[in-house]
Formats: sequence, C-alpha cells, structure tokens
Amino acid sequence: MIITLDTTAQTLVVERDGQKSRYPLFSKEAFDLISHEWLRVGWSQKYSYTFTWLGRPVIQLPEDLVRIQEAVYRVKPDVIVETGVAHGGTLIFYAGLCRAMGRGRVIGIDVEVSPRNRLAIENHELSSYITLVIGDAIAPETIAKVHGLVQTEERALVILDSCHTKSHVLGELDAYHDLVKPGSYIVATDGIMQFLADVPSGHAAWEWDNPSAAAADFAAVHSEFALEQPARPFNEGEVSNNVTYWPGAWLRRL
Ligand SMILES: C[S@@+](CC[C@H](N)C(=O)[O-])C[C@H]1O[C@@H](n2cnc3c(N)ncnc32)[C@H](O)[C@@H]1O
Repeated sequence: MIITLDTTAQTLVVERDGQKSRYPLFSKEAFDLISHEWLRVGWSQKYSYTFTWLGRPVIQLPEDLVRIQEAVYRVKPDVIVETGVAHGGTLIFYAGLCRAMGRGRVIGIDVEVSPRNRLAIENHELSSYITLVIGDAIAPETIAKVHGLVQTEERALVILDSCHTKSHVLGELDAYHDLVKPGSYIVATDGIMQFLADVPSGHAAWEWDNPSAAAADFAAVHSEFALEQPARPFNEGEVSNNVTYWPGAWLRRL
C-alpha cells in the first residue's frame, strides 16, 4: 500500500492493488488511515511503554484507558478482573476508578509478579482495592481461586491482557466469561497484533493468531455475547472508530 500525504494539496491518496482512493486531508477517512499507521509505527517504537498511572508503569495507549474508563463508569462493576499485571499500572488505574466511584474492587491475575512490582503494588495508596492471584490464568487452580473471590450475584467486568495467543485468549474467555453479567463486558485486548505482521519485531502468524480472532470465534458460539465497541457517551466529532490497540476486543453480555 502506498499512502501519499500532501499537505499543500491537502489530500491523502491511498494506492492499493493498483486502485487509487483520494481523500481530503482533513476528513474522517484520512484520520482513520493516518491513525492506523500511527498505531503501527507507535507499536514499533514502544510508545505504549512510556506511561505511568499514579506512579506505576501502565502498558496501554492513553485512549484505551479513557475508553475503558467510560465502560467502567457506565457498568459500575462490583469487581474488575484483569489477567496480566506486569508492573501493576492498570490495576492501580482500575483501583482509582473504584475509589472515585465509591464502588468495586480489583482482582489481578499473573503467572509471575516480580518481588519489586509486588512490593510497589502492595505499598501503593490504592492497594486495599487490589487482590493479586498468582498463577497461569487458564490453570484450573487459578480459575477456581478467582471464582472463589467473586460472589455469584456480583457483576464483574473482565479484561484479558496476559498471553495474547489466540488459543490462550480463547482459554481465558472460556474460563472467565461466566463472571460477566448482562450489560457488562469481557475485553480481549491487543488485537492490534493482526495488523503488525510486517512491522519490525512483529510475526507473520499474528495475522490469525491474535486476541481479536479469539474474541470473534468466542462470539460465534456464544450468542449471549455481542462483539461491539461500546457506544461513545460523548462525541461531537465525526470520527467514530477508536484509535486503539484493542480492535475487535469488546464482548458485551446481552
Ligand atoms: C502486557 S503485560 C500486562 C500489562 C498490564 N495489564 C498493563 O497494562 O500495565 C502481560 C502480562 O501477562 C503475564 N502473563 C503471560 N502469560 C500469562 C499466563 N499464561 N497467565 C497469566 N499471566 C500471564 C506476564 O507475566 C505479563 O506480566
């Protein structure tokens, strides 16, 4: 694909398979095309590895944090379950939302949390909102432990951000979707991988081996879930697609 961005003519021209499409530079279509390439270049540059939340590294794009905040505030879950802790930045982010809403707590699952990260999470101002579960997210004992921490009547919102292979994400969807009550979500993050096959340090297999593929397969056999980006609570512009590392991620329990 060839993209020609002409700031003098104020056009963006895309040439794909011998076909040319021309868009005004300041259009919704140009925004989507430029954003898509920005996401790919940013991934290669580890842009999402440059942020902290209340002192802890958080490995996310800021827009994804704002979008999930919108969903969390609407759903007001009793418990937020996240697989994939790393430095704990997202756990602290969700814990802060719980504190601000006066509702909810957070369960973080990881196969391994370093002593340094564990100490930082346990000594954080928001630590009382967080329970860590150490173990492979799809191991039966981990699944049982997490289910033991959630009451049957509680409404969970689940975020999957651990191992991003299709088979692992399918395993996590299978393991934790029952915690999600109508109106809430299970989110299979980092489906951006499908668009990174040709990016330096990307892999050809990511075209099919990615979390979005898992979410799509899951939705195909779970009619109680709809695969849809949450409606924006506010949008005075024309752009409707998120600039996100989480395309095809959002499974809403009907
Ligand atoms: C992308 S990082 C999580 C980032 C974190 N959610 C954030 O946004 O800051 C992925 C984490 O998943 C964990 N992980 C990898 N495979 C796992 C598995 N099978 N079960 C549980 N955690 C796993 C890794 O140890 C790593 O800490």
